[in-house]
Amino acid sequence: MSEKVIKAGVLGVGRGSILWRYCKKAKNAQLVAVCDKWEDGIKKAQKEIGNPSVTYYTDFEEFLKHDMDVVLLANYANEHAPFAVAAMKAGKNVISEVLPAQTMAEAVELIECVEKTGKNYYYAENYCYMNGPYEMKRLYENGEIGEFEYGEGEYIHNCEYGWAELTTGDPEHWRNNMSAFYYCTHSAGPLIHITGMRPVKVVGLECPFNFRMARMGAKKGGVGVEMVTLENGGIFKSIHGGGLSKDSVWYCVNGSRGRVETSRYIAKDGGTNTLYTDLDESEAYGSGLGVTRYYPRSEIAKQSGGVGHGGSDYVALWNIFEDLKGNGGDVIDVYEALDMWMVGFFAYQSVLNGGITMDIPDLRKKELREQFRNDNRCTDPKVAGDQLLPSYSKGNPIIDDAVYKKIREKWEEINIGSKEANSFDEV
Ligand SMILES: NC(=O)c1ccc[n+]([C@@H]2O[C@H](COP(=O)([O-])OP(=O)(O)OC[C@H]3O[C@@H](n4cnc5c(N)ncnc54)[C@H](O)[C@@H]3O)[C@@H](O)[C@H]2O)c1
Repeated sequence: MSEKVIKAGVLGVGRGSILWRYCKKAKNAQLVAVCDKWEDGIKKAQKEIGNPSVTYYTDFEEFLKHDMDVVLLANYANEHAPFAVAAMKAGKNVISEVLPAQTMAEAVELIECVEKTGKNYYYAENYCYMNGPYEMKRLYENGEIGEFEYGEGEYIHNCEYGWAELTTGDPEHWRNNMSAFYYCTHSAGPLIHITGMRPVKVVGLECPFNFRMARMGAKKGGVGVEMVTLENGGIFKSIHGGGLSKDSVWYCVNGSRGRVETSRYIAKDGGTNTLYTDLDESEAYGSGLGVTRYYPRSEIAKQSGGVGHGGSDYVALWNIFEDLKGNGGDVIDVYEALDMWMVGFFAYQSVLNGGITMDIPDLRKKELREQFRNDNRCTDPKVAGDQLLPSYSKGNPIIDDAVYKKIREKWEEINIGSKEANSFDEV
């Protein structure tokens, strides 16, 4: 076992704070550099980190010259792919926050960059490492659930209360401009990671733009729903978005030997930290072991102290840093990351095409990449050019400027009005 300590840098001081929080606790990584173009944010980070050996940058190119093994990308969710490509070309390994890419052209470029540079690319889809879904993966790999038949993944997060902090009142912020299908990997990702199977087909359904989205200035449907077929023919439902009133993070897997599911929030029984199993000893009818309920914790999760999305931030990073040390880890590579993302991308194409079933290509196959090399379809005008998609399938809602002004004022009140620097909240 290598005892090397990995030198890590981070881009983006909001969500990027997971890296310095992790490094304060874990022994396998050391924070060496932080980059953000937001100067006040850098000052806040400096205060929270409190380590004089860390170097701070406001320019990404300068940051990339720093001596470090890996860069965690926690910049805008729709800009990860070009930054990952630049980092790998500069000789750095990459950890990407969600999402991995915003177009199929970027997806192809990202994969080819990993293959060409030989650098390690890790997708930090932390929801796969929450206690419940992580245990579901262990049970599935042990054969205890049997062959996958049907599953569900839910990530509903009503962020209206924190929207000012999240978007700064910027009408063009990615959280306001993405479609309901973009942020799909918290719900679809765990099902893909548990089963280890590739999604091959998807049908999308979009819940309507509603009064909540209107108040937030989010120009999209409230919720995206994906019905996904995996390569063995099994099906899962993935639902995600901020358009419902009450939050829900929940996973369920039905296999040939029964069912495992996490607790629903409303039951007040530990949510994704609690697992219910109703499994059979064999596939024979009537060999039931009965229903059990327990609170699974991996050894690494115990070290996390439950910090950061129930400890999942810690477990995801621990696996990645162990892998970087050469010790192996349960990680998500570029192909699996893009499988997770394509669920939402093609579900939205399904919606835009009247609800037809869409094939999800296997980007591991080089011959399938050509047709997507110039595919810039997305909701970001800077990238899409003449292939721009609406962020809402029924046409982009018109939001009054006053909505953003009010949200901006709230952001200024929190970030400029206060004398004390705020610490970074978990979202
Ligand atoms: N996995 C999770 O549970 C989770 C939770 C929250 C956010 N996220 C992800 O983390 C990422 C960041 O989200 P966020 O909420 O912190 O806010 P954000 O996307 O609004 O902020 C990104 C930060 O990166 C900085 N930045 C962007 N481009 C830059 C550039 N070219 N040079 C220097 N700095 C740059 C911005 O100034 C900002 O501080 C997103 O990808 C989001 O999806 C993941």
